[in-house]
Amino acid sequence: MRAAPRVLTLLASGTLAAALLPFALRATAAEKAAPARAEGLAAFDTVANVLQHPRCRNCHIPGDAPLQFDAGLPHTQNVVRGSGGYGVPGLPCATCHGAANPPASYGPHTPPGAPGWQLPPPGLEMVFIGLSKGELCERLKDKSRNGGRDLAALVHHIDDRLVRWGWDPGVGRAPVPVPYEEFVAKFKTWTDAGGPCPAVAKGKIASLAP
Ligand code: HEC
Ligand code: HEC
Repeated sequence: MRAAPRVLTLLASGTLAAALLPFALRATAAEKAAPARAEGLAAFDTVANVLQHPRCRNCHIPGDAPLQFDAGLPHTQNVVRGSGGYGVPGLPCATCHGAANPPASYGPHTPPGAPGWQLPPPGLEMVFIGLSKGELCERLKDKSRNGGRDLAALVHHIDDRLVRWGWDPGVGRAPVPVPYEEFVAKFKTWTDAGGPCPAVAKGKIASLAP
């Protein structure tokens, strides 16, 4: 809509307009209708399965200790979040976790790595664990709990190095089974549909409110 007056001005200004007009028309025709709510909900189902996979949920925890393994056992050596999410001064994550996974030849049970390995900081825990899909969905969109991100910013964030690690988690750990490209595509379908959420049991929604 907004482009119309500009196109008209260009028209008045001559040949450039003649060149641009077909593009303007084609862009309008190509504008896709937003995915329907049902499509968005179906896409979120896949997104939630990824977010709650052990590779992701082991850092997206309600308490202060990261978890390990598919079983989600508390991290050894009493590792905790610390004031910035990087662990406590005496035992920061970086003592053991580097910017990349150790070489495969080191075998299993080595500390995995990705740039800036950390937990979400206190106050912004971004919990994915112990929530129904509806609760997870509401919480994900809650700007007071997600670092002030709108849906577009959330899409941008799923390109994060810690997120990508879930598909290359090092020897002995199962990667997220849904292909990364499919996860991204479903995430976009969900946000394009306006971020619809599965219903949350009555009485629960209040405890999720900021
Ligand atoms: C090593 C710990 C760690 C792992 C593993 C991890 N994350 Fe995160 N995640 C974080 C941190 C830290 C943040 C906050 C980053 C920031 O705000 O810049 C975050 C933020 C997010 C956010 C934004 C959440 C919100 O509410 O805004 C999403 C989405 C996310 N992670 C998805 C994933 C997915 C999907 C996986 C698995 C494939 C994953 N994470 C694995 C540490 C982790
Ligand atoms: C003393 C060393 C050490 C410190 C410090 C440490 N870790 Fe670990 N961490 C490890 C080791 C070793 C493993 C691998 C365990 C295995 O596979 O047997 C691991 C595994 C993990 C896993 C499990 C990945 C998975 O999906 O199974 C997460 C998540 C994790 N650490 C997060 C953190 C965070 C966040 C911090 C800082 C707050 C931290 N760790 C501090 C040694 C450490």
